[in-house]
Amino acid sequence: MGKTVAVLGADGYIGWPMAMHLSRLGYDVVAVDNLARRGWDEEGGTYSLVPIPTMEQRVDRWHELTGNTIIWHHLDLCDHKALDAFMAEFVPEAVVHLAEQRSAPFSMIDRDHAVRTQVNNIVGNLNLMFAINERAPDCHLVKLGTMGEYGCPNIDIEEGYLTIEHNGRTDTLPYPKVPHSFYHLSKVADSQNIHFGTRIWGMRATDLNQGVVYGNQTQDTMLHPDLMTRLDFDSIWGTALNRFCVQAAAGLPMTVYGQGGQTRGYLDIRDTMACITLAIEHPAERGQCRVFNQFTEQFNLNELADMVLRARKARGWETTIAHVPNPRVESESHYYNAKHSALVDLGLQPHLLDESLLESMIELVEQHVDQIDPVLLQQPSVNWRTGGNEVWDAYASQSQVMAATDSIDSLVASQARPRAAQLQQD
Ligand SMILES: NC(=O)c1ccc[n+]([C@@H]2O[C@H](COP(=O)([O-])OP(=O)(O)OC[C@H]3O[C@@H](n4cnc5c(N)ncnc54)[C@H](O)[C@@H]3O)[C@@H](O)[C@H]2O)c1
Repeated sequence: MGKTVAVLGADGYIGWPMAMHLSRLGYDVVAVDNLARRGWDEEGGTYSLVPIPTMEQRVDRWHELTGNTIIWHHLDLCDHKALDAFMAEFVPEAVVHLAEQRSAPFSMIDRDHAVRTQVNNIVGNLNLMFAINERAPDCHLVKLGTMGEYGCPNIDIEEGYLTIEHNGRTDTLPYPKVPHSFYHLSKVADSQNIHFGTRIWGMRATDLNQGVVYGNQTQDTMLHPDLMTRLDFDSIWGTALNRFCVQAAAGLPMTVYGQGGQTRGYLDIRDTMACITLAIEHPAERGQCRVFNQFTEQFNLNELADMVLRARKARGWETTIAHVPNPRVESESHYYNAKHSALVDLGLQPHLLDESLLESMIELVEQHVDQIDPVLLQQPSVNWRTGGNEVWDAYASQSQVMAATDSIDSLVASQARPRAAQLQQD
């Protein structure tokens, strides 16, 4: 029998390929999700450019093509009783925790979305920590954080910790963080909670501060259209490079926010698979809170847009770039030098961003070009200072899903679906 790994957030962009990747490597994978993301899409009128089947269809297709079994488990991390029962039942060797609300613009729409983001992420992560400690204390928590936790300091970014000399004394402390949004702030809170959990309970944890992920094709997603992962292109969920490729395919200008000097760490989705696998295969010690910066290259927005422009030009296609007013509050020209050697030291061999990868992304987008909604694609619908704008209002008002929450209690209660109802759906 293989080792059991729970992939939380397995219906998501990273979670589904991750579940298949680990299953192919021989792990017994339990795929967990509450399908919240599909609800958030419905709420805001957004959708994946590449159609994605249900989790039931995905795991069936995977089994049919490979003979491997991924157990699908419908579960909300905010339902602590169900999570506790889950950990007691499966006692996984490792948990890959991807199950959070992951959009910065979504968290900046208004009070409701900021609260929902922070409750979902912080409560879910805390519930998981307690469930691990009480039901599977040797389990290795592999948690996805983000490079956006650090912000853009005017000094080098270290991997999680900084040695400081102050008034003649020296200490090594968690790196100071100045995050970019209420979403990123939820990740900072998670990191602090995990660090605390390793100190008080001797929990083993790896906190992966991940850069922006691009690409959709892994060895496993390419096996069959039913195994593809989602491709987000709108201004709430789409990440920079994916969005540029889709904008260009639709014949629209690539919209660079502000001056375009915003520099971030990036990585290929295949390297995300490799990094998480390396973390699982080299677990943290009991009581250790290990922090890795998980990205392979850093680019600013102008550089990314130029790369897409050149790749399309090589095919004889015209592409334009438009600098639009920046809806975010962020520095548009700044120092950025983040360390990222720990995963390379463990054996990561990065797939660097090159023309062939861009070609394959452009090709994938071309296959679905008729599905693009140009309004969702082009217009930022959230402004950091003023929240959701008329584009957000227009799309959200079409939705039946809007959940105005008056209090944190009602939110948690509404998210914690009764165990019995969950079991019926599983
Ligand atoms: N995609 C990126 O570029 C990127 C970059 C840095 C960090 N990350 C982090 O990686 C993780 C995965 O990102 P993604 O792009 O796959 O996001 P995603 O939105 O595609 O997937 C997240 C999944 O988690 C599920 N989920 C959310 N809350 C849940 C809950 N309470 N209980 C159970 N399931 C829940 C959602 O339904 C969704 O399927 C996130 O934590 C994100 O913050 C992503």
